[in-house]
Amino acid sequence: MTHYKELGLVNTKELFKKAIDGQYAIPAYNFNNMEQLQAIIIACTETQSPVILQVSSGARKYANQTLLRYMGQGAVAMMKEFAKEKGLKEIPIVLHLDHGDSFALCKSCIETGFSSVMIDASHYPFEENVRITKEVVDYAHQYDVTVEGELGVLAGIEDEVSSKTTHYTKPEEVEEFVKKTGVDSLAISIGTSHGATKFKPEQCTRNADGILIPPELRFDILEEVEKRIPGFSIVLHGSSSVPIEAVRIIEECGGKLKDSVGIPEEQIRKATKSAVCKVNIDSDGRLWMTALIRKVFKEKPSEFDPRKYLGPARDALMEMYKHKNKNVLGSAGKA
Ligand code: G3H
Ligand code: 13P
Ligand code: ZN
Repeated sequence: MTHYKELGLVNTKELFKKAIDGQYAIPAYNFNNMEQLQAIIIACTETQSPVILQVSSGARKYANQTLLRYMGQGAVAMMKEFAKEKGLKEIPIVLHLDHGDSFALCKSCIETGFSSVMIDASHYPFEENVRITKEVVDYAHQYDVTVEGELGVLAGIEDEVSSKTTHYTKPEEVEEFVKKTGVDSLAISIGTSHGATKFKPEQCTRNADGILIPPELRFDILEEVEKRIPGFSIVLHGSSSVPIEAVRIIEECGGKLKDSVGIPEEQIRKATKSAVCKVNIDSDGRLWMTALIRKVFKEKPSEFDPRKYLGPARDALMEMYKHKNKNVLGSAGKA
């Protein structure tokens, strides 16, 4: 057993409390490789933002679970070195399992140094969701590891589970769920979804330039949830904005993305002014990384040094994370 405190990590407890009081959200950025991890750590240290490093079960398989554990430790070391070099304060780092789908996976992550886990049993009937989530909470809390549960299902792919339609969170269920499970935070479904096509074109309108404008998030559900569990930590998944600039570069450089549309950043900003204290962003990073790699390949077809295309991709990621921290989530300066 490697406890997360040995790795210099923190759980989400204090961070969420401060974020709710301060009306901002902690960024939860997914990573799978070294360049993504470097970009997240440097951007968050530079902007002095706390950060949640998210690992999905797919990422864990891709990067190898042992290597990932060292990457978590490496992230803290990298942050400390960078902060010292720049005369900045050290930032709090959480290592979080994203969309854990079983007790066994959550347990294994806790044993290898994760400081926070999500158990996503939201696709099961309510009582089963409660049972599975509580089992994880009871285990995790013995080690001071924080747990995120979920009520409601987002459209798109949630780990190996995919749903064609959104099942909004039922506000009348949240109080009982939180009480019975003992979770530390709750992910809710208010119209966000995973991936780069968050809405069907027929759900959107088009502006004068033909760009798809999505419908508003269901802030009424968020309000209702907050009334029932005042001050409780709420999480928003599927919060990428799918930046048109990145999509354009991808398409100009040979890529094809069908009907890409995200959540406008103003809506995420609005959500952070509530009890939403964790915002998950993965797709925006994937898009910027792909855009820059495609651009180098198009402009320099003879290039074959990975540093020459991964380097610009890493720089673009860094800019994006800084922008999110400063202008969307409000987490900059809160470390
Ligand atoms: O919620 C899903 C995240 O974007 C992770 O995706 O399971 O493909 O790593 P993944
Ligand atoms: P996006 O696909 O909108 O980036 O959402 C990521 C996410 O929710 C990870 O859990
Ligand atoms: Zn998610």
